[in-house]
Amino acid sequence: MRAIAIVNQKGGCGKTITAINLSAFLARENRRVLLVDMDPQGHATLGLQRGVADPGLTTSDVLMRKVTLREAARSVRPGLDLAPADILLAAVPEVLAGVPGREDRLAEALRSVADAYDYAIVDCPPNVGLLTFNALIACTEAIVPVEPSFFSLHGIGKLLETIAVVADKTGHDIAARALVTLYTGRAPFVRAVVDDIRKHLGGRSYETVIRCSVKLAEAASHGVPVADYSRRCAGFADYQALAREVLGQEPADGATSAVEASALGARHAPVERGSAPISSGHGVIFSLEAPRARRVHIAGDFNDWNVAGGEMEHSGPVWWKVLPLSPGRYHYRYVVDEVWQADPLNPDAEASPYGDLDSVVTVPPSDRG
Ligand SMILES: Nc1ncnc2c1ncn2[C@@H]1O[C@H](COP(=O)(O)OP(=O)(O)OP(=O)(O)O)[C@@H](O)[C@H]1O
Ligand SMILES: [Mg+2]
Repeated sequence: MRAIAIVNQKGGCGKTITAINLSAFLARENRRVLLVDMDPQGHATLGLQRGVADPGLTTSDVLMRKVTLREAARSVRPGLDLAPADILLAAVPEVLAGVPGREDRLAEALRSVADAYDYAIVDCPPNVGLLTFNALIACTEAIVPVEPSFFSLHGIGKLLETIAVVADKTGHDIAARALVTLYTGRAPFVRAVVDDIRKHLGGRSYETVIRCSVKLAEAASHGVPVADYSRRCAGFADYQALAREVLGQEPADGATSAVEASALGARHAPVERGSAPISSGHGVIFSLEAPRARRVHIAGDFNDWNVAGGEMEHSGPVWWKVLPLSPGRYHYRYVVDEVWQADPLNPDAEASPYGDLDSVVTVPPSDRG
């Protein structure tokens, strides 16, 4: 399970909108997602279940160890569970004052459901107190929404400091990345600030930028993710892109990474052999079994048949590479220790101009939205 905190002590920068819509889009990509509301304002709870009068069991019950996280989580959409919050969460820091290990309670709770979910997304309150500390300790990644104003750059500096303190205290690193939200792109200074954020943070920021989209606010006020409200708006496109960017960072270590396993059509199953190319939300997954190979490349008309840049990675005997291909039809071959060959598991092949066989992959328009 990947646990991602949505955190920034600055109020109103899009944390909750990001938590709701990232969770919903990850669930649409067939991930099992738990959204944990750690804000006593309960905005994520309201944004997903407007009209449900009694939130029932909440994260404050979990933090006070009255119930388990599994008991507090309720299903709100296919693939998406919510651990709701209400104002009683505001009392938790006081109730737990002086209790040893009080910062570790969410981490403990998340560990107990780690097998049940692929993602835990934790929506934090706009301050750095016990609740945010619990979130940062429970998570290994953080998304820091930043509004492109001069103040937020200052704020993100402060937040990165806080994250460094947590890393120091807990001995665990948090990969924090900034996400530009509420982007209008109109004023030149806004563009300058976005460039600045990129320049300062480099790889620690998302490529995706979330534009201002009134549909996002409207959807939340109706208690639904934007995908259930309007598909023809910037908010839909941007949060879908963010979810895909997050999915693209799924770890590729070990034989059970989601990318590799989905190459075989079975997530969480170890890869034992290659397969014909598979189009997925990640791009097209190419894989080939070559147990004794020292180097394997893929070359095709998508990279001008140039092996440079086509290096494949391997786990055990299976070599694989994910390529983000636009819809279309492509010819390709594998190069195993300098020997060119067609894909043995792909029946779709055509004669090349040189008289041997090229494998063929067709990427349908629907796969890359
Ligand atoms: N991309 C966007 N386009 C338009 N409105 C947005 C966008 N993102 C957020 N909003 C609106 O801005 C306001 C603040 O957003 P949100 O509640 O997500 O911020 P927050 O950081 O969670 O705030 P808080 O710190 O109070 O928890 C809300 O009214 C929300 O609907
Ligand atoms: Mg919020």
